[in-house]
Amino acid sequence: MKGQARITASVYSSHVPAIGAAIDLGKTGEPYWQPLFAGYEPSKQWMREHLPDVVFLVYNDHATNFDLGVIPTFAIGTAAEFEPADEGYGPRPVPKVVGHPELASHIAQSVIQQDFDLTIVNDLKVDHGLTVPMNLLFGSPAAWPVKVIPFHVNVVQYPVPSGARCFALGQAIRRAIESYDEPLKVQIWGTGGMSHQLQGPRAGLINAEWDNKFLDRLIADPKNLATLPHIEYVREAGSEGIELVMWLIARGAMADVTGGRAPTVAHRFFHVPASNTAVGHLILEENQP
Ligand code: DHB
Ligand code: FE
Repeated sequence: MKGQARITASVYSSHVPAIGAAIDLGKTGEPYWQPLFAGYEPSKQWMREHLPDVVFLVYNDHATNFDLGVIPTFAIGTAAEFEPADEGYGPRPVPKVVGHPELASHIAQSVIQQDFDLTIVNDLKVDHGLTVPMNLLFGSPAAWPVKVIPFHVNVVQYPVPSGARCFALGQAIRRAIESYDEPLKVQIWGTGGMSHQLQGPRAGLINAEWDNKFLDRLIADPKNLATLPHIEYVREAGSEGIELVMWLIARGAMADVTGGRAPTVAHRFFHVPASNTAVGHLILEENQP
């Protein structure tokens, strides 16, 4: 036997589109942006030392690939390649994202048979929700150094999935990855968040205290954190704070959730301001049993 695929780490990061614009326009050294990018320098170093074969990247499309005509709750990208989407200013000048159709198809099969209804997407363009975290963790290479399985979650148009369902889905994804017959190193990323609200009278809302408690609980008590109802995210972290349910998919895929060893915190970072969003970032390294 060649060995099975395994999850080596989970990575969490906000996806603010203005971060992508700062990179594309050469502004990362400006005083406004410098502290934000400095916070990701240790992560890029860590990533070079812990490069996986595949990233299973949980993100949300922002009505760029999917619009109100089709609203999948959970969608898995099974294609060989994914081009950056045009989000209004032309596609970002980042490399195309190379997929892993075999592993993605296996995960689709396994997770659907575990009773999660995934939409299978063979034709997908990826927006800032996916490309900005890629830049933050890999910088701006000519080609991305890993294969990526994009996994979209609807957190834009209600009804959106609960944190509890996302957490359970993460466990199903772990089982799927661990039953793949090739010794691939796989990271699972949860992206979006932290607190932000882009519209209405509360536009600009940031709740740093709540965000930092969320990070504490994500590390130490994710099962409990997964029981938070939507209304608490919206009330405390703003309407777009609901993106944080995606982090629970990645956290649900870690070993300790089903009785294994607790992960090690390799890096933790929190920063305000970045556009309208509180930026949170965490790397949790899996420990071998
Ligand atoms: C911003 C944040 C987001 O998550 C997003 O999708 C769009 C804009 C912002 O902070 O400006
Ligand atoms: Fe967003």
